[in-house]
Amino acid sequence: MLELKNICYRVSTPEGDLDILKNVSITIPDHKLVVFTGPNGGGKTTLAKVIMGLVQPTGGRIIYNGQDVTDLTITERARLGISYGFQQPPRFKGITVNDLLQLSAGSEKLSKDRCCQYLTKVGLCANDYLDREVDVSLSGGEVKRIEIATILARHSDLMIFDEPEAGIDLWSFARLTETFEQIHREEQSTMIIISHQERIIQLADEIVVIAGGQIAHRGTTEEVFPLILADTLGGCPVLNKKEGVSE
Ligand SMILES: Nc1ncnc2c1ncn2[C@@H]1O[C@H](COP(=O)(O)OP(=O)(O)OP(=O)(O)O)[C@@H](O)[C@H]1O
Ligand SMILES: [Mg+2]
Repeated sequence: MLELKNICYRVSTPEGDLDILKNVSITIPDHKLVVFTGPNGGGKTTLAKVIMGLVQPTGGRIIYNGQDVTDLTITERARLGISYGFQQPPRFKGITVNDLLQLSAGSEKLSKDRCCQYLTKVGLCANDYLDREVDVSLSGGEVKRIEIATILARHSDLMIFDEPEAGIDLWSFARLTETFEQIHREEQSTMIIISHQERIIQLADEIVVIAGGQIAHRGTTEEVFPLILADTLGGCPVLNKKEGVSE
């Protein structure tokens, strides 16, 4: 179980202090699929990075399986079973797709067949990709899919995917959603998926809408989806104000 308690993240900017996350508290039980969604700049990626340890919160605690992990490093959290797939994955010159998959799998040496299974789940063929370097020669969608395959190979207890749909073609995306569905059905892992995609939102046990650094809504798809639609159909708040449209 993951518990976020009063998470705050404040940065200093030339214009003064800026609160990116404002007192975010949430509990995510094991084996649930929780979708974080909400407007651009709302704080979703920052919250995911706080969980993984890539960003140190300026307030609050992170409790994972009863242990306070707030002061642990990324590596220590990874060893406890947390993994995170970047919204924009990094590239690794000189490291092949096979190297990355083997690193992710840990002590288990993956056979070519196993590598092939992970790559197939993201719509890639092992014969074409295993020996490719994860460098700039790969397209954005290819790097994204390879990164997701490495997370699948890791079999973490808590997998965080940051906009897995970004840059991925419709065919690979359909296969990927099936994979998420299967992991969820078989209760293999807890998943936090940051997404704007209705298809992924529909898979969620719980949707958490993050806006302005806070939890704006949370609940089941049935409860929250109509609220998201109402928010997005409400128009631009700045323009509405200028035009004297009442909210
Ligand atoms: N170190 C920082 N300094 C200044 N602003 C920051 C910093 N880190 C994040 N922000 C701002 O905080 C806000 C939240 O960013 P974040 O990446 O978490 O949003 P997001 O919800 O993931 O958005 P998107 O849907 O576009 O991916 C953004 O406005 C971003 O510019
Ligand atoms: Mg983001």
